[in-house]
Amino acid sequence: MRIFEKTARFGAIALAVLFIALSLCGVFGAWFVHRMATDAALKGFGAIEIGVGVIDAGVARVDDLAAKSRTEVRQAAETIGTVGAQALANSPVLNALSERLETSLAPRVAQMQQLLAPVRDAMGAVGNAVSVLNSLPMLADRAPRLAALDETVNRLEELTADTTQLRGTLRALVDQKGDVASATVAALGGITQRIDTRLGEVQANVQAVRAEVTALQVRLDRRKSQLLFVFNLLLLISTLIPAWVVYTQVVVIRHHQARMRLPPVRRDMKTQYYTASSLDGFIATRDDSLHWLFPLGDVNDTSYPTFIKDVGAIAMGAHTYEWMLQHIVNATPPQQWPYTQPTWVFTSRALPGVPGADIRFARGHVRPVHSEMAAAANGRNVWIVGGGELAGQFYDAGLLDELFVQVGSVTLGSGKPLLPRAIVTPSLKLLSVRQVGAGFAELHYQVVPRS
Ligand SMILES: NC(=O)c1ccc[n+]([C@@H]2O[C@H](COP(=O)([O-])OP(=O)(O)OC[C@H]3O[C@@H](n4cnc5c(N)ncnc54)[C@H](OP(=O)(O)O)[C@@H]3O)[C@@H](O)[C@H]2O)c1
Repeated sequence: MRIFEKTARFGAIALAVLFIALSLCGVFGAWFVHRMATDAALKGFGAIEIGVGVIDAGVARVDDLAAKSRTEVRQAAETIGTVGAQALANSPVLNALSERLETSLAPRVAQMQQLLAPVRDAMGAVGNAVSVLNSLPMLADRAPRLAALDETVNRLEELTADTTQLRGTLRALVDQKGDVASATVAALGGITQRIDTRLGEVQANVQAVRAEVTALQVRLDRRKSQLLFVFNLLLLISTLIPAWVVYTQVVVIRHHQARMRLPPVRRDMKTQYYTASSLDGFIATRDDSLHWLFPLGDVNDTSYPTFIKDVGAIAMGAHTYEWMLQHIVNATPPQQWPYTQPTWVFTSRALPGVPGADIRFARGHVRPVHSEMAAAANGRNVWIVGGGELAGQFYDAGLLDELFVQVGSVTLGSGKPLLPRAIVTPSLKLLSVRQVGAGFAELHYQVVPRS
């Protein structure tokens, strides 16, 4: 049985150690995964931020160029409207205008086209990064739409054709060295109008793209904070749970180690009333005197030295305890409390303890107190010191197993009764009788359980 218990406790400790090791691995794993996931998420968000930066700078520049071009085109339209009919007389003005269109409007359109190429690439990269992040929970977001940008690119291509047509028509007008028909001036006005409209569309498109990526950036910033918060929360939970498991397993290990260090538990623990009585059944005189007891013999000749070795917990009534305080602890000279075992004193009053002694005060029904005593005794016996009424309460509760009575060779006539209970059917079972000198007859009884 003992070997089986020890093996089971070793097994439980090994299991607890395994749980601790797994929990610690879990903690390290959780920290590692947290680190990797955080790095990956930050990289994803970083890539989007860079892409958004490129897009924003590119479309801002295109917006700026389109605005400048529109101003220029409007001025050109005004000039053509004013001086176009007298082309010959105003040929220096038209020449200058044609030159300006050559040197600024056309290159600006080309510049806008060039600027949009990396913007488009960045839009694609941002779209891919957003798709990757979309695979994470809470991050479903839409990538910026490329349609508006594609439309802008188309407009710019049309613009290129329009500016070429404008420049060609203007150059022909300058070169013909004569006044031109009003229909030609109107056609030029139509072309500038068309260019202005297309530039307006380019501006509107790039502004829409800019607004979209700005909104995306704001949303992703918020989501980044939320995601990092969730990561940290998960890390906290996945650290606290293993920490709790480690704590409980340490408690389990310490419990089993403590139980293995204890002496073997006896399964036959008994509750015994061990006392001395006069021949006529009194354990003390009416005034609690024991003066009749001590001259009858030496306690070392009785079974007491053997008996006390097997005692793990002690119970006594308030008067017995007060007798011991008066005649032992507070005697002159004072003596030490005689028991190393925990002692429960039954009383309804607040009595003083004894420094250095394990004394616990109890009241009420004896059963719950007996359970505490049995647990503390850990397989050893429970000794009911007395008096008789307290021993009777243990008998009433069916908790008394044995009686040891040193019957002294005296009668007292009256006093505190040995056991004020009627124990008739079944009667006590006499287990042994032993003579201790001329002063005592030691009787050992078993209390037969009542059915
Ligand atoms: N001959 C021997 O070997 C021997 C052995 C033991 C004792 N004695 C002597 O016998 C005398 C004591 O006799 P006794 O019958 O008066 O006994 P006792 O059991 O020592 O004291 C009885 C008192 O214990 C308290 N008590 C008992 N049961 C309780 C419960 N369930 N809950 C709360 N308090 C409870 C009550 O005290 P409160 O008033 O505080 O509530 C009660 O008045 C003492 O002089 C003692 O020295 C002799």
